[in-house]
Amino acid sequence: MHVTRYTKTAMLLHWVMAVGIVANVALAWLWPTFADENVRPAIDTHKSIGMTLLGLAILRLLWRFAHTPPGYPASYKGWERTASHLVHWGLYLILFAMPLTGWIMDSAYKNAAETPMYWFGTFEFPRIGFIMTMEPGLRDRVHDTFGAAHSLLQWLLYALLLLHIAGALKHQMDGEKELQRMMPGR
Ligand code: HEM
Repeated sequence: MHVTRYTKTAMLLHWVMAVGIVANVALAWLWPTFADENVRPAIDTHKSIGMTLLGLAILRLLWRFAHTPPGYPASYKGWERTASHLVHWGLYLILFAMPLTGWIMDSAYKNAAETPMYWFGTFEFPRIGFIMTMEPGLRDRVHDTFGAAHSLLQWLLYALLLLHIAGALKHQMDGEKELQRMMPGR
C-alpha cells in the first residue's frame, strides 16, 4: 500500500515540538514586558521547555533515521520537492542549534555554579561541566558568542517556519491532502 501519512509517533513529536517552539519564542518576546519578579521564572520556564525540546529533537532524529517519510503526491514538482527537503533539514538543524546554543550560553553564565537549574521546578538538570569550569575570560566570551548565535538563529527559525507553513498551505490549497499527512484522526 502507498503510505501517505506520517506515523503516530512522528505526528506526536511534530505537534508537541511545534507547541514548545511557539511557546519558547512567545516567552522570549514577552518577558521584556514582564514585571521584574516574573522575568526570572519566565526565563527558567524557557530553559525547561528548551531542554525538553532538545531531548525530543534527539528522539525525532532517531525516528527519522529509522523511517522513510511518506512519499510526496505525484503532482509535486521537482523544485517543490527540493525546497521541501531543504526546509525540513534546515528545521532539523534549528531543532538542535537553538537549544544547544541556549544550553551552552547558560552553562557559561558566570553565576551558573551558584544558580542550579530545575526542570519545571522539579529535578536539577545538568549544565555542561567543562564550559562551567573554563577560565573566566574565555567562559565570558563563550557566553556572549553563543548568546549572540542563539539570538541570530531565531531569524533563521522564523524564515524556515514561514516557508514551511507557506508550503504546506500552498499544497493544501492546490487540493492535496497535505495537512492530513501530519494530522492524527481519520
Ligand atoms: C527550541 C528551543 C529554543 C528556542 C526556540 C529559543 C528561542 C529564544 C529566543 C527567540 C530568544 C530571544 C533572543 C533575543 O531576544 O535576542 C531566546 C533567549 C534566550 N534563551 Fe532561548 N530558545 C530555546 C532554547 C533555549 C535553551 C535550551 C536555553 C537554556 C538552557 C535557552 C536560554 C535562553 C537565554 C538565557 C536567553 C536570553 C535571556 C536574556 O535575554 O537574558 N534557550 N531564546
